Amino acid sequence: MITYSPEHRVFSLSTDRTTYAFLAAPGGFLVHLHYGARVSDTDALVALTALRDRPSFQPQTPDEAPGAAGTFFSRDTALQELSGFNTGDFRPAGLRIRWSDGSCAADLRYVSHSVAPGKPEPDGLPSAFAGKDPGVETLDVLCADAARGARVHLLYTVFPACDVIARSVLVENDTSEPFTLESLASAQLDLPDDRYDLLQLPGAWARERHAERVPLAHGERRLRSVRGATGHTMNNAFALLAPDASETAGDAYGLVLCYSGNFEASLDVSSFGSTRATVGISPETFSWTLAPGASFQSPEVFLVHSAEGTGAMSRRLHDFFRGHLLDPRWATRARPALVNNWEATYFDFDTEKLLSIARAAAPLGIEMLVLDDGWFGHRHDDRRSLGDWYEFAGKIGDMADLVRQIHDLGLKFGLWFEPEMVSEDSDLYRAHPDWALSIPGRGRSLARHQLVLDFSRDEVVDAIADTILRLLRRAKVDYLKYDMNRNHTEAFGAAFPPERQGEVEHRFILGVYRLHRKLLEGMPQLLIEGCSGGGGRFDAGMLRYTPQIWCSDDSDALERLRIQAGTSLFYPCSAIGAHVSACPNHQIGRTSPFETRATVALAGTFGYELDLTKLPAEDLAAIPGQIADFHRFAPVLLAGDHYRLFPAWRDNPVEAWMFVSKDKSRAILSAVRRAAVPNIPDERLRLQGLDPAARYEVGDEIWHGDTLLHAGLPLHRLLANLDTASLRLYLRRIDAPAS
Ligand code: GLA
Repeated sequence: MITYSPEHRVFSLSTDRTTYAFLAAPGGFLVHLHYGARVSDTDALVALTALRDRPSFQPQTPDEAPGAAGTFFSRDTALQELSGFNTGDFRPAGLRIRWSDGSCAADLRYVSHSVAPGKPEPDGLPSAFAGKDPGVETLDVLCADAARGARVHLLYTVFPACDVIARSVLVENDTSEPFTLESLASAQLDLPDDRYDLLQLPGAWARERHAERVPLAHGERRLRSVRGATGHTMNNAFALLAPDASETAGDAYGLVLCYSGNFEASLDVSSFGSTRATVGISPETFSWTLAPGASFQSPEVFLVHSAEGTGAMSRRLHDFFRGHLLDPRWATRARPALVNNWEATYFDFDTEKLLSIARAAAPLGIEMLVLDDGWFGHRHDDRRSLGDWYEFAGKIGDMADLVRQIHDLGLKFGLWFEPEMVSEDSDLYRAHPDWALSIPGRGRSLARHQLVLDFSRDEVVDAIADTILRLLRRAKVDYLKYDMNRNHTEAFGAAFPPERQGEVEHRFILGVYRLHRKLLEGMPQLLIEGCSGGGGRFDAGMLRYTPQIWCSDDSDALERLRIQAGTSLFYPCSAIGAHVSACPNHQIGRTSPFETRATVALAGTFGYELDLTKLPAEDLAAIPGQIADFHRFAPVLLAGDHYRLFPAWRDNPVEAWMFVSKDKSRAILSAVRRAAVPNIPDERLRLQGLDPAARYEVGDEIWHGDTLLHAGLPLHRLLANLDTASLRLYLRRIDAPAS
């Protein structure tokens, strides 16, 4: 619910368990009052913002005389909703405008506001939607720059049941001169404390999103990407935690940017007992000139708070993604259990090989074959043919014919593309060398022998969309794996004049989103799996179009424990692309039990990434049981609650997690032991999320819910004391409260 108290000029945004409040203070400054657990009397919060006497190094505002006692409002120390640059707040500013006279300053003052049910969806950007929740409301706070009058809308949408607030900023030029946005945060969050831990997701190719928890200290810390994508090295979702917060208790604030291009998040601990988080498009590669009458909207950022630690923070976000961001056609629907041929064959396959994998897959219960890289142009290897999205006749002949044969076996069919890329050795490049991103007169940096197409140009996106759609329709393809295997260098938009080059990277990612929309509009039943060398573009923006993303090229079970736990901090497990691959593992050389690989992959979308025709008989024999678990687990995983039983930001000796249905009648418990322990002590594993008053069937034993929650299961009896041993159990509530 969103309320405004005219007497105290306080805005109060409440969700089921949180309150976000701010004040339109005298002078029009939007002063942040509170974000956290619910408070009922938000008007009383005004008393927390008393004016103060400040030394000369905290300036007054130009139009403000000191109050009677010599006190005044200091923008440098106040908590604010969105700070402008160069007008007295020396902390990192969320808004920086360069005016036509060359001056650079912004001074936002409240003008008016409106509240409307539902949520508008911005043009061209992925965004959350109101969905089925009638309680979703949007607050539009209009501010204007004090000197030039430019209009800035601060937009807040409240999703009550998930405790999420989506924020974005819309800037309109209703002045008579153009001006340039040099920096525009999607949100600024000023918190009234200087002691938070930052929970962030750094990584690299094959070891993405390793959660890391570090105490913030005075000064600024930046998380960023200028790769043209979110990137493997730092995700654009992060959290601020109270120092004592754990998975089950304490204040946790999550911020998730709904964007897939260059981003920046700044965490600044001030000298005045506050911490500022700003997040949005990276100002390093962005500027946008608004002509009179033009407007620009930032991507959205999703804010969530939990007073019950990071576990509840994640579960609220998972609910939010499923109800308000993922494509409703797929959000809680089971995806096909698949086999992907990449690690089975790499580039070395032909129709017969693919059919032999499909013939082996069908009787095991596998539901789809995904044909990965190498099926197009003359793609013998990774040096050629990106952009030539037609069949490699020497390998597979007619795609429609192949798909028909796969369908006849009862399997669906998926196909790999890398739409944003072009090889120099390709028909596409020979026809349109000017379509590749490059700076005239400067060398181009190759990566995996490929160049990046200039997706800031509509004609490039349209041509790629037409080519791909034509093939998908002709061959009746069910599923598309959308890859992106290098980052941007020498980014320059040949279609734009010098003064508009700051638009190119943002326009590029708008082009990527537009291509996704065209593909989905052109083939509404298509399921798209996102991918970028594994998880190099795992973000909320992509998830709007691709309800699952290949989480990492590393499918080693132990490595995946870390990657998937980190990813689950913000993103739902149903979106985590996870497969069982062959051992020794192709990325790291480790061998782990087949069942352990399945246990880990069953915490995601599930499938196989190996040559079924070469699999040992005992592993083959295990597959139908694993697929049966996949189907049994799917409803709980897709729509239930996820619990990490140990902190995601540590390598725990045993990793354990649960999925619990919303009505608590079904649960899945999985655990993996990293390494055998000599002379192992007794181990108790306390479960979470169950009904304490009910009894549960745990495998073939009966346990009380309260025992499982408060005393635990004897893990040493259930989980073998062997390197990388695993356990997965299905729990079923067998009765109502037991006395
Ligand atoms: C990327 C993907 C892999 C595979 C290869 C093909 O690395 O992450 O899964 O598709 O490309 O080249």
